[in-house]
Amino acid sequence: MNKDKISIVILAAGKGSRMKSPKAKVLHNISGKPMLYHIIKASREISNDISVVVAHQKEAVIEQMSEYFDDIHFVVQDAENFPGTGGAMKNIAPKNNKVLVLNGDMPLITSKALEGFLELDDDVIMSIFDLKDPNGYGRVIIKDEHVQYIVEQKDANDAELNATTVNAGIYAFSKEVIEKYIPLLSNDNAQKEYYLTDVISIAKKDGLSIVPLLVDEEHFKGVNSKKDLADSEEIMQTRIKTAHMNNGVIMQLPSTIYIEEGVKFEGECIVENACRITGNSHIINSHIKAGSVVEDSIMKNSDCGPMAHLRPLSNIEDTHIGNFVEVKKSSLKGVKAGHLSYLGDSEIDEGTNIGAGTITCNYDGIKKYKTIIGKNVFIGSDTQLIAPVTIEDDVMIAAGTTVSSGTVAQGSLALSRVKLKTVKNFYYKFFGKR
Ligand code: UD1
Ligand code: CA
Repeated sequence: MNKDKISIVILAAGKGSRMKSPKAKVLHNISGKPMLYHIIKASREISNDISVVVAHQKEAVIEQMSEYFDDIHFVVQDAENFPGTGGAMKNIAPKNNKVLVLNGDMPLITSKALEGFLELDDDVIMSIFDLKDPNGYGRVIIKDEHVQYIVEQKDANDAELNATTVNAGIYAFSKEVIEKYIPLLSNDNAQKEYYLTDVISIAKKDGLSIVPLLVDEEHFKGVNSKKDLADSEEIMQTRIKTAHMNNGVIMQLPSTIYIEEGVKFEGECIVENACRITGNSHIINSHIKAGSVVEDSIMKNSDCGPMAHLRPLSNIEDTHIGNFVEVKKSSLKGVKAGHLSYLGDSEIDEGTNIGAGTITCNYDGIKKYKTIIGKNVFIGSDTQLIAPVTIEDDVMIAAGTTVSSGTVAQGSLALSRVKLKTVKNFYYKFFGKR
């Protein structure tokens, strides 16, 4: 792939008012990453010259994208004087003679799906697809098998609205076409915007041929509303999970599982139904049982769940995490924590057993503190460990104990219990015979 052949311009400056959201449309997430991230990622696989046009919430867009990419140019649209997708193209300065224009609201695009645009050398190539329900898209008007013009839904008459061939919103132009026709666009339309789509009719009148490229909705679907966002998420999820299954992951009822872009699996892994795995989680030879949530964590030769919660920055190895156990920012190696516990900001070593209901009290209302537990420790049920606390190797902690801050020395027993008091026949005095 010669990445110096084509420049890419991604339009990401619009308000996205149909999303009905305070957040810029292109920053809404699909599988854990902003829509725009997915488009830039696909673009970088085929081009070294990528411009992203910004305006609405430009600081947030630039900041978030700069977290992931350091080699893209941001171009600011004068959206007040030149609103619309045509206005967005005014200040761009692509390096190469061929320019691919992408909408910033097409998170399903892949570099492979864009290959068709790279193979042709015509001056104007545009993407089309046929839809039973063309609602929301610009209609492509074709006469005698030739594209004549594109009309936006809001500007279309009844006959035009009936057209089922729509503009998918991706174009490849020669640099000359952009330089010549963008300045000719007018905003004489329903939305008082400069439409990039009008380049098609102007170029056509000028005698250029418009080459339509038939594409599929699965890769070119635009997101305008929250319903579109949910539909696109489903397509992306199917794609992500299919890839993992093809690489050897076992999934039970995959349609109930959510896995974000960025999650990695290695070896034989099983993911049961209704699990959610997010961030940069890395799962190696492990079994995630039904209803568990794993966020930004590493699991190696381990199992968790059903209904377990590994919160960010947990690292568990050779470990068993049972039902209703929450782990946060902790490292567990060779540990068993079978039931109902909270283990936060802790380090727990090999051979240690954590009894049901054990809580690391890591927060005093102001600061967080660490709990360090050594090897072969036996922690009885319903223990509170008030951090900062260190439990050395080979310690036994009796059920119901509150371990105050400090150190429990190697080999000892820790026990804090109120002496049991029994009052004979109290039950009957209180309730009477029943
Ligand atoms: C656009 C097309 C429509 C096509 C559809 C495909 C136009 C006029 N219409 O419509 O024919 O069927 O995409 O999905 O182009 N943007 C800017 N600056 C602006 C306005 C928009 O950068 O001033 C960006 C948006 O952030 C968005 C993209 O351009 O990423 C498309 O804008 P949007 O408003 O979604 O266009 P559609 O109405 O969907
Ligand atoms: Ca759109």
